[in-house]
Amino acid sequence: MTAPLIDPFARAISYLRVSVTDRCDFRCVYCMSENMTFLPKKELLTLEELDRMCSAFVRLGVRKLRITGGEPLVRRDIMTFFRSMSRHLDSGALHELTLTTNGSQLERFADELYAAGVRRVNISLDTLDEAKFAQITRWGRLPQVLRGIDAAQRAGLRVKLNTVALKGFNQDELFPLTDWCAARDIDLTFIEVMPMGDLGNEDRLGQYWSLKDLRAQLETRTTLTDLPEKTGGPARYVRLESTGQKIGFITPLSHNFCESCNRVRITCTGEIYTCLGQEGHSDLRGPLRGSESDAELESAIRAAIARKPKGHDFDYSRQQIDGQVSRHMSHTGG
Ligand code: GTP
Ligand code: 5AD
Ligand code: SF4
Repeated sequence: MTAPLIDPFARAISYLRVSVTDRCDFRCVYCMSENMTFLPKKELLTLEELDRMCSAFVRLGVRKLRITGGEPLVRRDIMTFFRSMSRHLDSGALHELTLTTNGSQLERFADELYAAGVRRVNISLDTLDEAKFAQITRWGRLPQVLRGIDAAQRAGLRVKLNTVALKGFNQDELFPLTDWCAARDIDLTFIEVMPMGDLGNEDRLGQYWSLKDLRAQLETRTTLTDLPEKTGGPARYVRLESTGQKIGFITPLSHNFCESCNRVRITCTGEIYTCLGQEGHSDLRGPLRGSESDAELESAIRAAIARKPKGHDFDYSRQQIDGQVSRHMSHTGG
């Protein structure tokens, strides 16, 4: 039997996040600069290589696979990859195949995703105001995303919104967003803004809205009951007693969750990042391309996991940004 992937802090790695492209059709201001230079296509792992990479991780004990980007649904022929991964769901080796998307292409792909075995999608959406949406994504169109959300629900996909909590941007939308999700039976997760990628156009400290504060605001309106359930991701969940809806909190700053980390990330060029909040990474594309057997790749994966750091060093508590990483969030897909 294959030994499971265990890191130096006795954490079992069962969750792989794979970025399939660095491209995106939006340019969210906290995530990318306006003029991005994207990688030449030949740098990217091919769909066949992505398949081999993910299959190796599944053999080594990964049970949850999340496809990210950039925007994963702008990668050409990406449905071929989803369909091919569904064999691991069929065999029972993989428990969940899912994706994080900006929603812009869901109208087109929702049914095919469902057919490939996807049952849940996380959609990044920070505002329900069309003008603010256009501002934060630089040119995204909100109605297109809303149509994508409708299509996902019609296709039978469970929808969760990911909303980055941004002071001075969406603070006034806490209750409208919550109510909008309740009315549509959509889960909602708030994320604290992390100091990733020095874009020079934003003020992370000024934007930072602690989810402790956000939670206290929700509590002025209703009782929050902690839910024991875990998705295997970093969010902690509560139920709002007024509506029964589920709200998640991802709190890298106000309540570190690294102790229970179960995940690693692969970039679209085949680098492995064993921590979102650290610069350290290693190459898996070389071992993947170097040999037709997967032995070299598997031992490179094990070697990388043996170096997984304890956690991130993000910290705003000294009223300055500590622990910043230079990589943009789009590089590893969150
Ligand atoms: P679920 O399966 O629904 O629990 O999803 P998830 O939270 O695992 O995935 P999603 O892509 O929705 O992640 C939401 C965001 O949480 C990411 O974009 C990151 O911003 C943040 N996040 C995810 N994993 C980590 C992590 O290991 N460390 C930190 N600091 N943030 C993370
Ligand atoms: N801090 C927190 N979340 C971020 N995201 C992108 N950049 C940041 C950041 N600096 C989120 C997006 C999306 C996910 C992929 O990562 O909003 O939900
Ligand atoms: Fe694209 Fe997501 Fe980054 Fe926005 S947060 S620019 S949608 S990759």
